[in-house]
Amino acid sequence: MIKKGIILAGGMGTRMSPLTKAVNKQLLPIYDKPLIYYPLSILMLAKIRDILIIVNKGQLDQYKKLFPERKNLGINVVFKEQDKPRGLPDAFILGEKFINNSNIAMILGDNFFYGQNLSKLLTECARLKHGAKIVLHSVKKPHLFGVAKINYKSKNILKIIEKPKKFISNYAITGLYFFDNKVVNYAKKLKPSKRGELEIIDLINQYKKTKKLSAEFIGRGGAWLDTGSISDYYKTSAFVQAVENRQGFKIACLEEIALLNKWINKKDIKDAISFYGNCEYSSYLKKLIQ
Ligand code: TTP
Repeated sequence: MIKKGIILAGGMGTRMSPLTKAVNKQLLPIYDKPLIYYPLSILMLAKIRDILIIVNKGQLDQYKKLFPERKNLGINVVFKEQDKPRGLPDAFILGEKFINNSNIAMILGDNFFYGQNLSKLLTECARLKHGAKIVLHSVKKPHLFGVAKINYKSKNILKIIEKPKKFISNYAITGLYFFDNKVVNYAKKLKPSKRGELEIIDLINQYKKTKKLSAEFIGRGGAWLDTGSISDYYKTSAFVQAVENRQGFKIACLEEIALLNKWINKKDIKDAISFYGNCEYSSYLKKLIQ
């Protein structure tokens, strides 16, 4: 089982400026909690407890307020600063020591996943022993994403293209990846693209070349939402609000997941309630232990 995960939570958030001038995008709210809670909840649902959060240089203090050392989620969170956005594969170069000789999951700090069977899909992905696994989701406008052409029968990946001009497939590559330990060496060998960044597509293609690439699919019952532009950001927030208010369950309540995983107990939930103070999130936590 993959036991370690990285959340890439730096970036300039240019598309969301001026909101992101003083505050990192991943600390802005998606309805009732900071955006970073959502990708973190995904790693926790995959039963990953050792987590590295990569943040922008100078923004560590902001994150430590949200994840102080005494905050017990039953997981181990460490941080690393990135001095500038060098591209997604930089996560594996910065994270080399953290990864050590393990396999690794990586999720982008601004990605939102929700849906039926998600936990099952995640634990399945975390079983990866060799090669790489990417998570695909069907989209209406594939030309805006990194896209995978697949053989529907064998589920083999035939081709991967970043923002294809000609239609090759509807399957976008989401920001959730599972790699074996070779990823560190592959990432180190990458050269920056024309836009000056290391590209995740180039990294994934290394695995494709050696026929070590597989895919999982989030079906129609699931959602993968982007929070990169202002409009998508508010759509995601509205989605969370609609689901939570209708069902009475919270999406990405970290303490609830930790409790269900049996990583924490009632006392930890009580501590969390005093950490958050008198708010709706705390009322939800109170109900969990009543
Ligand atoms: P992007 O969407 O590429 O960048 P961004 O979030 O900074 O937004 P914009 O394009 O508006 O400037 O990044 C995807 C995610 O990965 C996001 O959560 C930020 C993070 N990221 C890093 O932490 N370091 C990096 O070097 C890059 C490229 C992204």
